[in-house]
Amino acid sequence: MSITKTKKKVFIETLGCQMNVADTERMLGLLDEIDYVQTEDRMEADLSILNTCSIREHAVDKMRSYMGKWDKTRKPGSMIALAGCVPQQEGTKLATDVRTADIVIGTHNLHRLPDLVLEAEAKHQINLLNGIEPAIKNKGVYASRPQVAEIWEELPEDIPETPIFRKTKYYAWVNVIYGCNYRCTYCIVPKTRGDQRSRSTTDIVSEVQALAAEGFKEIILLGQNVDGYGLDIGTNLAALLREVHKVDGIERIKFLTSHPCDMTYELIETVAELPKVSKYFHVPIQAGNDEVLKRMARRYTVARYMELVNYIRKLMPEASITGDIIVGFPGETHEQFMDSVKVVQEVGYDACNTAIYSKRPFTPAAEWEDNITHAEKQERIRLLNAICTEVAEKQALRYVGKVEKVLVEGKSVRNPDRLTGRIFNNKTVNIECDPALHDKYIGTFADVRITRTNPWALRGEFV
Ligand code: 5AD
Ligand code: SF4
Repeated sequence: MSITKTKKKVFIETLGCQMNVADTERMLGLLDEIDYVQTEDRMEADLSILNTCSIREHAVDKMRSYMGKWDKTRKPGSMIALAGCVPQQEGTKLATDVRTADIVIGTHNLHRLPDLVLEAEAKHQINLLNGIEPAIKNKGVYASRPQVAEIWEELPEDIPETPIFRKTKYYAWVNVIYGCNYRCTYCIVPKTRGDQRSRSTTDIVSEVQALAAEGFKEIILLGQNVDGYGLDIGTNLAALLREVHKVDGIERIKFLTSHPCDMTYELIETVAELPKVSKYFHVPIQAGNDEVLKRMARRYTVARYMELVNYIRKLMPEASITGDIIVGFPGETHEQFMDSVKVVQEVGYDACNTAIYSKRPFTPAAEWEDNITHAEKQERIRLLNAICTEVAEKQALRYVGKVEKVLVEGKSVRNPDRLTGRIFNNKTVNIECDPALHDKYIGTFADVRITRTNPWALRGEFV
């Protein structure tokens, strides 16, 4: 008779950016090794993990509100883990402060998760044997609830390679560089993610080969400053793209996020040259005024940024460019803000993420007087968003009537008669299609004629 071990269940809520989504995939991979499987239902989870984001204000409040809610409504006896950028930012002080968390782990020691979970499980067992009920039944006695907290201030020399449990089937995110060496004066990332460390090209290529063998068709090379890839290990992103391009089975390659200072003409030429690399650049400008850029410590001028944009457009007129802009940075005047509006129109972004400046602890800008009223910031972001939408809608029109290659990912959630996928710049396309033909298309690249657009997505039909 064979004995099958019952698997334990883990629920993960992921907040924030793509780097966190990638970390969640790593956590699931690590937990698989100690017999945890993912569940979408928190109420049946033996372990619930909150993977936090700290890029904007109120990150700690948001985290506390999740923890409070989860504690009140958890499966009896189950454990809660607090992970990601908020604990990394706040350190162990916060860990011991949040007594509802059984496990607290930062971003620098993610690979330690299985050990911490096993340790916490053991402590829980002792607690249960001693007749101490889970906190849910014992309001106010959190102190008796054992907690395992471990946050590493320093990054380990060698980040261990960890298993990854991928939620996506046909495209995969591949981390190529961790951390960032820039010190933009508003940004928490260097604190939460540390200095730049590139993975070796050999490791990355082996991972991509394994993905191709599993049937993945598209990969997205990921880094906070992906253009900085290799500068710490004597290579660069253009060279990496050439290596990854050789992997059979991978049909499309993207990379993000770019930094204007590390985006070279060689890189742009390489993208233009390699057919499998999407003609797509996510390259945040952050502000359209040199004075503001200087105070942000972005280390480039608007003119330099426009040079890059013009070179991209010259080599690849069909290229798609997206960006990020912050409004209401300390000291930004109305005229300086209007320069950001102008830049959106000049670049012609396919999409532009906008955010109101948010004061982050441990950053230089946090010390500066925040002299712009809330109402003024709201007014600025409203105007900027309206312009971004107008520009994006105009840009989207250029796809109408064209045939685009779409990686068909599956049925549309909103209308299961339709299929959904993405074109080269990550724009979603919904495709009318006879349900009898769905299986033929899902997981393949197909030619789709774009028939119309709306601000969020494109509509098309197979040709
Ligand atoms: N306030 C507002 N937006 C920010 N970003 C990063 N830090 C802040 C902050 N303190 C934005 C930038 C970055 C994106 C990921 O988030 O535009 O490109
Ligand atoms: Fe933050 Fe600047 Fe690094 Fe981007 S380049 S992650 S904004 S410090």
